[in-house]
Amino acid sequence: MMSVGEADVPLGVKTPDVRSTFGFILLLLLDVSLLAGATSSPVVNPCCNYPCENSGTCMRFGADRFECDCTRTGFHGENCTVPEFWTRIHFLLKPSPDTVHYVLTHFHWLWDLINNSFLRNILMRVVLTVRSNFIPSPPTFNSKYGYLSWESYYNLSYYTRILPPVPEDCPTPMGTKGKAVLPDPQELVKRFLIRKKFRPDPQGANLMFAFFAQHFTHQFFKTHHRMGPAFTRALSHGVDAGHIYGDNLERQLQLRLHQEGKLRYQVIDGEMFPPTTQEVPVAMSYPSSVPHHQRLALGQEVFGLLPGLTLYSTLWLREHNRVCDVLKEVHPTWGDEQLFQTTRLIIIGETIRIVVEEYVQQLSGYLLQLKFDPTIIFHDQFQYSNRISLEFNHLYHWHPLMPDSFLVDGQDITYPNFLFNTSVLLHFGVEKLVDSFARQQAGQIGGGRNVHARLQEVVELVIKESRALRVQPFNEYRKKFELKPYASFYEFTDDKEMARQLEELYGDIDALEFYPGLLLERTRPNAIFGESMVEMGAPFSLKGLLGNPICSPVYWKPSTFGGMVGFDIVNSATLERLVCLNSRWCPYVSFHVPRSKEDHRPRDPSTEL
Ligand code: HEM
Ligand SMILES: *[C@@H]1O[C@H](CO)[C@@H](O)[C@H](O)[C@H]1NC(C)=O
Ligand SMILES: *[C@@H]1O[C@H](CO)[C@@H](O)[C@H](O)[C@H]1NC(C)=O
Ligand SMILES: *[C@@H]1O[C@H](CO)[C@@H](O)[C@H](O)[C@H]1NC(C)=O
Ligand SMILES: *[C@@H]1O[C@H](CO)[C@@H](O)[C@H](O)[C@H]1NC(C)=O
Repeated sequence: MMSVGEADVPLGVKTPDVRSTFGFILLLLLDVSLLAGATSSPVVNPCCNYPCENSGTCMRFGADRFECDCTRTGFHGENCTVPEFWTRIHFLLKPSPDTVHYVLTHFHWLWDLINNSFLRNILMRVVLTVRSNFIPSPPTFNSKYGYLSWESYYNLSYYTRILPPVPEDCPTPMGTKGKAVLPDPQELVKRFLIRKKFRPDPQGANLMFAFFAQHFTHQFFKTHHRMGPAFTRALSHGVDAGHIYGDNLERQLQLRLHQEGKLRYQVIDGEMFPPTTQEVPVAMSYPSSVPHHQRLALGQEVFGLLPGLTLYSTLWLREHNRVCDVLKEVHPTWGDEQLFQTTRLIIIGETIRIVVEEYVQQLSGYLLQLKFDPTIIFHDQFQYSNRISLEFNHLYHWHPLMPDSFLVDGQDITYPNFLFNTSVLLHFGVEKLVDSFARQQAGQIGGGRNVHARLQEVVELVIKESRALRVQPFNEYRKKFELKPYASFYEFTDDKEMARQLEELYGDIDALEFYPGLLLERTRPNAIFGESMVEMGAPFSLKGLLGNPICSPVYWKPSTFGGMVGFDIVNSATLERLVCLNSRWCPYVSFHVPRSKEDHRPRDPSTEL
């Protein structure tokens, strides 16, 4: 490109001619704006408005043409909108998610009958297969590849993605809808997410539940911040107990005792606790204010953060070493390695059982008694593999669970005194900590305005990262999970003022973002969150749990777990046994606050399991 002003100036010769330089800049500006005009008006990437319905794949041809690939979607037509015969029948018979949820959470008399009959297994099978079918397996996209590629299949460092990123060249950040600039994250969080007054979870989840959620999920949500928000350090992408054993072999070997399969520990007042980083020098995240003799060495780098996390780490450490003793008893010939490896599989099995039968049971509020029995789906098509997706990570930022302060044994502990304070665990001991956490209510996750101000930055960060990662609009995810997209903010929330403000900030319901959508959606009556969190979260969750190799027909048998002794441990695992087989006395232990008179009664050292 040449400007008239500089045409007669030989290259490399500096001219102090202000007029020609000025003219050059002017022309340059003019040129740029012409260019911008050219790209923005007629030639918009046609995939920016998500034309392919029902999970069809949008592929751009030339500059302005697209085709939808509707293969095996059950639909055809230009935009995959015309249902095939059986699809029509399927949708005719399929009840709405809200109806199914209503039935599953009402009619005690019906569930009385079902829970104790063969129907329990049949329904459990339906739950597992219907939910898992939403998750593509093998996995598909990631944050770099919005199309299928070998790299995105093979490179485990990425979180996978259910929907590809918003194409780079779209007119607005969310595609074609909404404003050119998204609302300021800090303003969004302050206005709609920060707590004014604590709102307890109406389903009665307690802090044992909240800390379990955090502890359990941080084995597979480990964003590799040095590489960027698209990457994970947890390369096995599932329930591998990496939060107990470390996410790599080197760390595992440091944490192990190398005797009888056990993990290293320290003994304080005759009780087993995790060792300090002085004894086991693994990398941990502690602020410099924490003295070295109080830094516990754990499988997960960040678990020094909260006494609730060190509590669970201690329980699983004790359980691991307890199970080693049980196995050693029946396998006196086994060496350290086999005892360790077999115990690890048992710990994974126990974890999955507790998650399905107690944790998900609590979360779902279902009256159907959930069952962990991998054989239920042995005759169905099911891939025993799993890849953690970015959307699952974002969805699981359940920070509203955290209370205003922590009530332990009659003392009210504030955030500054609680965070990174490992002496809370040693001071109160496992029993009193469990008892206290089990009696304190967790916050309601959905409905907005329930995140403690201390956690403001964490929530802002999810929103910022989701923009950098170009996560598609909330309504696109609604469609992906076969939910009706919301037609307006007023349909999305019952809070008229919030709807009005959201509309003003986003401009269009189709531009509402994924994470704010999940947290601000109207909650179901008396429920911990709204429809979308359940209908999107459950598929990721169940696929991750049942997709574990130990659930496959190849692994799921007694010999995998050291014989019937080990298999029985997996099949009888409960939260209560985890606590009470590894403590001096049995506190009140559950994922919900006390409901019966019996549960309200104080427990003390005279209580045994
Ligand atoms: C007082 C309690 C808590 C504090 C101080 C806290 C703090 C944090 C911080 C600082 C991060 C890292 C943000 C970043 O740099 O990406 C984070 C991430 C996260 N938190 Fe929390 N959190 C708390 C409780 C919880 C709870 C109860 C859950 C429930 C599941 C949870 C779920 C998550 C998840 C899923 C991530 C993303 C992890 C990753 O991708 O590596 N947090 N939290
Ligand atoms: C398919 O979508 C495109 C773009 O959104 C639209 O212009 C076209 O009319 C749609 N075709 C049909 C058959 O609905
Ligand atoms: C995965 O992709 C990242 C980013 O391109 C790259 O740095 C890393 O080396 C890849 N990992 C493997 C195992 O190829
Ligand atoms: C199963 O049925 C019982 C009635 O026997 C009911 O009270 C209960 O809530 C149901 N669900 C579970 C998880 O036990
Ligand atoms: C840590 O917790 C203990 C026991 O509750 C308390 O005495 C101590 O003051 C706390 N330490 C800090 C630094 O807050």
